[in-house]
Order: sequence, then structure tokens, then C-alpha cells
Amino acid sequence: MPQYVLGHYLKGEGKRLALMSELLDPMHRRYIDALNIVKPGARTLEVGCGNASISAWLAERVSPGGTAVAFDLDLSLIEVRAPNLELRQGDIVAGPVAPGTFDLVTARAVLHHVADAEVAITNLVASLRTGGVLLLIEPDFLPVSIAEPPEVRAFWDGWLAWSRERGIDYHIGRTLAPRLAAPGLTQISGTAETAIYNGGSTWANYWTLTINELRDDLIGSGKLNVALVDTFLNHCADSNWWTQTIAFTAVSGRSPGA
Ligand SMILES: C[S@@+](CC[C@H](N)C(=O)[O-])C[C@H]1O[C@@H](n2cnc3c(N)ncnc32)[C@H](O)[C@@H]1O
Repeated sequence: MPQYVLGHYLKGEGKRLALMSELLDPMHRRYIDALNIVKPGARTLEVGCGNASISAWLAERVSPGGTAVAFDLDLSLIEVRAPNLELRQGDIVAGPVAPGTFDLVTARAVLHHVADAEVAITNLVASLRTGGVLLLIEPDFLPVSIAEPPEVRAFWDGWLAWSRERGIDYHIGRTLAPRLAAPGLTQISGTAETAIYNGGSTWANYWTLTINELRDDLIGSGKLNVALVDTFLNHCADSNWWTQTIAFTAVSGRSPGA
């Protein structure tokens, strides 16, 4: 299995994925609705589906007659089931999923973890039918460059240094549009949106959970120390601290020829 730093076996990973669904599903559903392509009878594919909350929603939207495929390296944290929800285990770098068959292919918060995002995008595009749409949503950590106070910025500098060493690309958001243009997708459009949150909020709880899950690796890497990690966690508990972290970049493009 390819190396993935937030493996589903980690304690708390189920809760962390549930928080991602709570925080990001409304935005993801809004972008999918705006494409106007998911209708009864449609075939959809979600790659790196995590707990498959979006795939379960897609399964309802394509019913009757359609199929929603939920695809991930690890299906162990998926609890939802539906007659037209198909679970498939696999690595998107290894090849397309049912080439040329999907009306919608989507992936959220996946490609920044994939060692060869170029190959993964080629395989996502190859899974589309003619006229099908690819929707990618990935982070861009641009907002942390203006984080306050300075010790929080120092925490994020260490986090980004750790992530580079682990092969994670937290600036991938800005590269998505040209990467969809390169294989010839048309009607490319995109938006980035950034949550502004305070300590004690769901976003702050998400970061507390994530950092506690990765704590040993972050400190062991030498890119962060105990004091910086604890200072950041203290801010995450302080309701008077307001901040922003990720510009979630959503970009879509259509397979030509329809
Ligand atoms: C950060 S989680 C995001 C889960 C979900 N998309 C969300 O936004 O809530 C990344 C997911 O991508 C999966 N993943 C990572 N690399 C993958 C690959 N090469 N092929 C398929 N899935 C992959 C992981 O197993 C994990 O479930």
C-alpha cells in the first residue's frame, strides 16, 4: 500500500474524517450542484473518499438508475451502505477506475498526499466519459503566511517543512487549473475559499485532533518542537484567537468532445 501519513489505523482518524465531512461537505455539495451534471441515472466516482459521506450523498442524487463509486486505498472507515453505492479499494496512481465511464469524477483533499499527482490526474481524467466533469478540491496553505501571532506563523513554518519532507504538497491548490488544462479539459473554472475561525471552533478542534494524531512524527522530524506545538494547541483552545489556514481551491474541467 502506498505511504499515506494519516493512515486509517491511527487513533482518532475516524473522528478526524467525520470532522472533515462536517466542515467540507456543504462546500463540496455546493460545487457539485453548480455543475448540474449529477442527475438520476448518472455515474459518479469519488476518489480518496475517506468515510464516503460525499459518495453516500451522490448515491441518493443519482437514484434511480445511477451508480456512485467510492474509491480509496483503505475502505475500513466507511460505515454507510446503499444499493447503488459501490465501494472499491485501490490506488489512483496505479490506473484509471473504469476508464471512460463517469459523468462526474471528484477528489477532495487527496492529491496533496499523492506522491505523483500528475499521474493521478491523468488517471482521474481517463475515468471520465466524453463530456464528463472532473472536480478537484485541494488545499493551499497561502493564508498561514500571514498568521498571527508570530509563534503561530513559526508553527506553520515548521509544519510546512515537515510536510515537504513527508512528500505532502500543501500548495497544490494554485497548480490545479493548469494541471487540468494540460490534458485538454475545457470549461475550466475555479474558486478558492477560506474559513475564518477562532479557538474552540470545529476548525480549531479539527487541528487539535490532527496535530495530536501526528504529534510524535512532527516533533521527531525535528521541524517542530514541543513548545511550538503546545503554543499552537493553546491558541486552538482560546476563543479570543481568530485565524485562517487553508484556501480550499476547487477547480473543475470538462472532458472535450461532447
Ligand atoms: C485527507 S483524507 C480526505 C478524505 C475525504 N476525501 C475528505 O475530504 O473528507 C485523504 C483520503 O485519500 C485516500 N488516499 C490517499 N492516497 C490515495 C491514493 N493514492 N489512491 C486512493 N486514495 C488515496 C486516503 O486513504 C484518505 O482516505
